[in-house]
Amino acid sequence: MREREDKRGDEHTAEGDNLPICTLGGVLISRLNGLLRGMRLYGASNRALLAQQQELLDAVKAMQADEVSLLGMGEYFYVNGVRLRPDASSVPVFRALLAEFEVRRMGGLRFSAHLGMAELESFLRVLLRERHENATAVLKAETASAGASHICAIQPRDVRAQTSTEGEGPEDHDRGQARMLFSRAVRGARILYQRTRRTGKPALQQARRVVQPIVDRLLRNADSLVGLTALKRHDEYTYAHCVNVSILSIRMGQLLGLSRPELAGIGVAALLHDTGKLMVPTEVLGKPGPLDAEEWAVIRRHPMEGLRIISRTPGLSELMLSAMRVAFEHHRNVNQTGYPQVRDGRAMGTFSRIVAVADVFDALTAHRTYRERPLTAHEALRLLLGRECEQFDRAALWALVNAVGLYPAGTLLRTASGRVLLSVSPNARDPRRPVCRELATAPRDEAAPNAPDFILDAHERVAHVLPPEDVDVDVEGQLAA
Ligand SMILES: [Fe+2]
Ligand SMILES: [Fe+2]
Repeated sequence: MREREDKRGDEHTAEGDNLPICTLGGVLISRLNGLLRGMRLYGASNRALLAQQQELLDAVKAMQADEVSLLGMGEYFYVNGVRLRPDASSVPVFRALLAEFEVRRMGGLRFSAHLGMAELESFLRVLLRERHENATAVLKAETASAGASHICAIQPRDVRAQTSTEGEGPEDHDRGQARMLFSRAVRGARILYQRTRRTGKPALQQARRVVQPIVDRLLRNADSLVGLTALKRHDEYTYAHCVNVSILSIRMGQLLGLSRPELAGIGVAALLHDTGKLMVPTEVLGKPGPLDAEEWAVIRRHPMEGLRIISRTPGLSELMLSAMRVAFEHHRNVNQTGYPQVRDGRAMGTFSRIVAVADVFDALTAHRTYRERPLTAHEALRLLLGRECEQFDRAALWALVNAVGLYPAGTLLRTASGRVLLSVSPNARDPRRPVCRELATAPRDEAAPNAPDFILDAHERVAHVLPPEDVDVDVEGQLAA
């Protein structure tokens, strides 16, 4: 699908201009995003803002079309029907603007080449004010009453109609939806944890609302969502960690035969597993170096603190009991090591065994200021299945390998035939054959552009797993693209 999209991108250029639409579209997105940010900060007469407005109008005019449509769908933008694929550096800008659209349930914007400064400014003022799902209707009404007609908002249903014939394959669309779901879950986790900090008790029903779409999604198609847990460079990694652990635990539970209600239960418990960290000072949590004995003692109290906080939830439910148990047990080990130590040597619960493995796997592969580089997911698997395996439940380890695959997303592979591949997501049908993207071998640091992703062929033998320092490619950027 990408091949088709990128070929089209190369063919489509603005008339009379050699720049391809995808380049001009990228400029348009960055100008619009910059202008919206500027408008939040400054008054209308600010000179910098006027310059930004002019730059946006110039970007529209540079398309040399009477009308320019900018549509957001999943994780992608389409400009005049051409899908744009952001490079690693423009991913944050794309995401920021997609989030602006999403908050207003808005499908896109249509600009006329005759749009002027005053009309643009008053339209964007209304847009910034209307942060709710009826924004499109309000914008329509206000622009109609003002007699403005050179810029308008597009309904999401119109976007679907316009983009469905534009070459987006089911795989790309699927990945886009998974990313939307993931970012929504991270936002949900942030709100949940912040609220817990304020009120002193977690809202279990809110946690369930965050988890339910993940369960539904994983039961339909697990691969792309599990693949997203490999992305660690989040602004909000603390919350992304809780979402990652929840996704991995639900998937592992699914592989171990848990029922649908149990999957929701383990998802909620996993989302709340680190609730006790709310009681750990941020200086200790974010300390850029090894912790001293006193700081370790504070950290080691977070399972008990988590149990206490969750126990304050009003009422009594199975959901609450399992969340308390997981919060308390997620750093214990099946061989009675770990913390907190309990005198009677009571065995860990099933949910705790699963969440403990998901948690340590995600933590080992996360960036830490005091580590030169995190373990790759493949190295983490080797560690957990090697010398550390006595600590963990064997069935949970088996489920982890099957959930993330033998070569988890982000793993660099050299095949026997000399190809260098990046694993981008697992393949539920065969953990040995991930979905891969080919990287160019010469020059060695360049990713092959426009290559469609593919499932590793059964006849293609993996000769080596390469450490990231051997292939100078931005793995996170590739996974985010
Ligand atoms: Fe923890
Ligand atoms: Fe954790």
